[in-house]
Amino acid sequence: MRKKISVIGTGNVGSALGQRLGQMGFADVILVDIIEGMPQGKAIDMMHSHPIVGSNAKIVGTNGYEETANSDLVIMVARSKPLGGAGGAQVSGGRNRLLLENMEMLKGITERAIKHSPDCIIIVVTNPVDAMARAVLHFSRFAKNCIMGLSGGLDTARYRAMIADEMNVSAQDIRACIIGAHGETMIPIPRMTTIGGVPITELLSADKVDAIVARARHGAGEVVKLLKTATPYYAPAMAIAEMAEAVILDKKRVMPVSAYLEGEFGASDVFIDVPAKIGASGIEQVMQFNLSPTESEAFKQSAQSIKDNVAMMNLG
Ligand code: LAC
Repeated sequence: MRKKISVIGTGNVGSALGQRLGQMGFADVILVDIIEGMPQGKAIDMMHSHPIVGSNAKIVGTNGYEETANSDLVIMVARSKPLGGAGGAQVSGGRNRLLLENMEMLKGITERAIKHSPDCIIIVVTNPVDAMARAVLHFSRFAKNCIMGLSGGLDTARYRAMIADEMNVSAQDIRACIIGAHGETMIPIPRMTTIGGVPITELLSADKVDAIVARARHGAGEVVKLLKTATPYYAPAMAIAEMAEAVILDKKRVMPVSAYLEGEFGASDVFIDVPAKIGASGIEQVMQFNLSPTESEAFKQSAQSIKDNVAMMNLG
C-alpha cells in the first residue's frame, strides 16, 4: 500500500513542496486548496513532469478533503491571507501578525483533515508556527508526538548555507544547531555548529560568528526584502520535504523541529525548536543537552515569547 501525504495549502510553499515530494517519490501526494481548480491544475502539471524526472508518485489536486482519506502525513502550509509586500522587517512581525486568523483557519483544517485521517502525523508550517502547532495539538487532541512544526530544519539550512558561503566549504559538511522559537528569538549554538566536526568557533573569529548568527536569525527577512510581495518558499519546501521523508521512511533522523516539551530544556507546555529523533511515529525522542547559563536564559525568554502568543489564542 503506497504511503500518502496531504499538503493543505498550495501557494508558493505548498506548490514547491508538492513538486519536491512528487519527485522524491516515496509517497503519493494530495494537494488541497480552497481556490477552485488551482490544486488540480498544479497537480496535473507536476504529474506531466514525472516522466522526465522518473517518478511514479501520483499527485492529485482537490478542493475538498475526501481524497486525503487515510493520509500517513498531513502538512498544514495554508495561511489565512498573504503577508503582502511590507518588506523584510515585517516577516518576524508578519509571522505573528496573522496569529488569530491563522488559528481560526487551522481549526477548520485540523477538524476536516483528521476526520479523514485519524491516525496521521501532522507537520505544521503555518506561522507563527510554534503557536500554531500548539493550537493544532489542542484542536486535534492528538498525542504530542504526532505533531511537529517546521522550524530549525529551515533555520539551520539557512545558517549552514551562510557558513558555507563564508568559509567556501561544502554545506554538506556543516552540522548546525539552533534551538528556540522560529523567529527573532531563535538561538543558534555556535559551539555545537561544526564544519567536518570542527566547531566554527575554532575556525571563525567571534565577530564573524556573531555576524553569521545575526544574519541567520533574519534569513527569511533578507529574502522578503528582495521579493517584496512574497515570503521564501524554496528552502521552506525542501526543509519540510526532509521532515516528511524522515516520517514516511521511518528514518530515525535527528533533526531540529518544533516539538511539544514537557520539562525538557526546562520548558513545559510549549512547542519550540529542539533536536529530536523523527520517525514513523513522529517525534520519537527529544535530544536534550546541557545549556550554558546564557543559552538557558535565552531559551527561557524564547519559550516565553511563544507562550505569550499562545495566551492570545485563548485555547482553553
Ligand atoms: C520562513 C517561514 C517559513 O522562515 O517562516 O521562511
